[in-house]
Amino acid sequence: MPRKPAIQRKESAKEANPPSSPASDILKEADKLKTQLSVILEQSPMIIIIADTEGRIEYVNRKFNDVTGYSLAEVAGKTPRVLKSGETPLEVYKSLWETITSGNVWTGEFHNKKKSGGYYWGHASIAPIKNSEGEIINFIGMEEDFTARKNAEDALIQAHKRVEELSQAKDIFIQNITHELKTPLSVILGNISLLRDIAPKESAKEWTRLLDMEERNAIRLRRSIEQILQLGKLDSAELKKEPVQLDKLLQDVYLEHLPIANMKGVDLDLSLDKFELQADRELLRLAISNFVSNSVKFTDKGSVELSMKVLGDSVLVRVSDTGIGISKENQSKLFQKFFKADPNAPGSGIGLALSYTIINKHGGKISVKSELEKGSAFEIVLPRGG
Ligand SMILES: Nc1ncnc2c1ncn2[C@@H]1O[C@H](COP(=O)(O)OP(=O)(O)OP(=O)(O)O)[C@@H](O)[C@H]1O
Ligand SMILES: [Mg+2]
Repeated sequence: MPRKPAIQRKESAKEANPPSSPASDILKEADKLKTQLSVILEQSPMIIIIADTEGRIEYVNRKFNDVTGYSLAEVAGKTPRVLKSGETPLEVYKSLWETITSGNVWTGEFHNKKKSGGYYWGHASIAPIKNSEGEIINFIGMEEDFTARKNAEDALIQAHKRVEELSQAKDIFIQNITHELKTPLSVILGNISLLRDIAPKESAKEWTRLLDMEERNAIRLRRSIEQILQLGKLDSAELKKEPVQLDKLLQDVYLEHLPIANMKGVDLDLSLDKFELQADRELLRLAISNFVSNSVKFTDKGSVELSMKVLGDSVLVRVSDTGIGISKENQSKLFQKFFKADPNAPGSGIGLALSYTIINKHGGKISVKSELEKGSAFEIVLPRGG
């Protein structure tokens, strides 16, 4: 008897345990994909809303429920208007609807209301879903809850506003207080020179000594007030640059400090070169004046030298002294606000911080060389352009 063909045995085996056909494979794959997609939608960190062509909600994911407090059962069949806070302008909704019904994607921000009455900020992308014929069959909205970021941004904006208000208040305060301090000082300085004229001959020496002392202190106070005023406004202030004859400016600085140097018995030397640069005259004078003031203040014997040298398109201003010198450690702190090597020395410790800012704003550079008990030299290089 002939043996049954192998193929027949195979077919009967097939009937007992039918293998998958291409169609059922596709169905299985589609099922798997559907499950995967619904898991993805459910677990998405974004809020997802699917609506019909009239905008009525058909599906919302878990994140929607977490953020808004509404379940699918509560919003199904309703439009996303349930989340309306009244704070998003009507035109936004109008443009949204026009965009998506004409087949385009709309992106924007909403301030939405939760079931609890609280609010959240959503950054949304809403897109039409089309069938193979290109007809819109659904809308899908994806929304990111960025309330925390928005709150942080708002807090930052508020903080900035507050800083600005405080800074304005500070400027006004400094202006007022400076005026308050400067006015009586001008009277004092004026009276000192009147008193010199009427000093009785027999005690003229003593009068001069006392009046010199008064004048020195009043001038020192005026410089401190000027420095504090400048330091307060320098950060935000624009420089008022104009052509400045540097040799003329150094001459003024020299004359300003000559009386005190003479009184201390310290030689004050000046050596000039012709140089014009773009600079804020008053500020530059204040900056250079402070280097000379320091040198005179911290030198008890010997000399202080103020010199300048043209280096092509820049100029080197040098202030050197034979004074107490500055330790290596302190040299790195000199330009910090309020630093003073000796807390008991006269001064407020803002001169060099101010000089540094001013020179920096003129595109200049400062370097220091100093040795304790031998003296110091400050070199300032300024470009012609300022
Ligand atoms: N030529 C110098 N010789 C020795 N020490 C100096 C010299 N220049 C600056 N210093 C040191 O640097 C410190 C800071 O100087 P800065 O000009 O900033 O402040 P100040 O002179 O103390 O006070 P202010 O200038 O505000 O009246 C000084 O207190 C001093 O210790
Ligand atoms: Mg100083």
